[in-house]
Amino acid sequence: MTDLIHAKKREQSKVISSRREQLVRCIPGIWNYKKVLNIGANDKMFAFCSDFKQHGCIVDVIEIYPEYCQGLRKHFDWLNQIVCGSVVDIDKLVEKGELEKKYELVIWSHGPGTLHDKQLIFDTLDELYLMTEKVLVIMNAYGKRRYVERNREKLETDYITKNDFMDIVLYEDDFKKRDFLVDVLGEKDGDQSNLLAWKYSNVA
Ligand SMILES: C[S@@+](CC[C@H](N)C(=O)[O-])C[C@H]1O[C@@H](n2cnc3c(N)ncnc32)[C@H](O)[C@@H]1O
Repeated sequence: MTDLIHAKKREQSKVISSRREQLVRCIPGIWNYKKVLNIGANDKMFAFCSDFKQHGCIVDVIEIYPEYCQGLRKHFDWLNQIVCGSVVDIDKLVEKGELEKKYELVIWSHGPGTLHDKQLIFDTLDELYLMTEKVLVIMNAYGKRRYVERNREKLETDYITKNDFMDIVLYEDDFKKRDFLVDVLGEKDGDQSNLLAWKYSNVA
């Protein structure tokens, strides 16, 4: 592996560690929720997968890209269920019995901003909240990603997930006005900043 790849991996792992600390500081009992629905993951990007595994969580994943689903099946054989589809169709996947009706923890990390339509993001979050027994957790870029704006053309040719650009920019108020609790890491519109939003279920 080249030095550059090592350096990138180290940086990524620092980013995930700081997000893990943020998560546990804001939702201290998070790893006690064992029945988990994780939205979006692949064998290169799957934040908190080691935590889920270490804490014995039973994790279902919904992932849109078939090749990513294959990669998850190959490299993450401890996952309970890998459903290939879009989170936007979550109600249909539940109706078809591919996903459970309820999960203790529903987590959508990086993220909602890829859906290209703010109303669709929050309609989808409403659906996810209905499926949440304990807590619904969102992580997203905190505003714009400047490096994406700067390097967009290059990134579009390099990345298979070119549809994953966070074209919808989200800030604290988008979540606060919908009764989410919110915490941020880093600067607004910063390249590695993180917006965490979470909402506990009303069900006792
Ligand atoms: C930026 S990665 C984040 C992965 C992981 N959640 C994390 O935080 O490390 C976004 C993932 O969501 C997937 N994805 C994008 N749009 C999706 C959708 N509509 N439904 C389900 N998964 C989606 C992508 O293919 C990718 O694997």
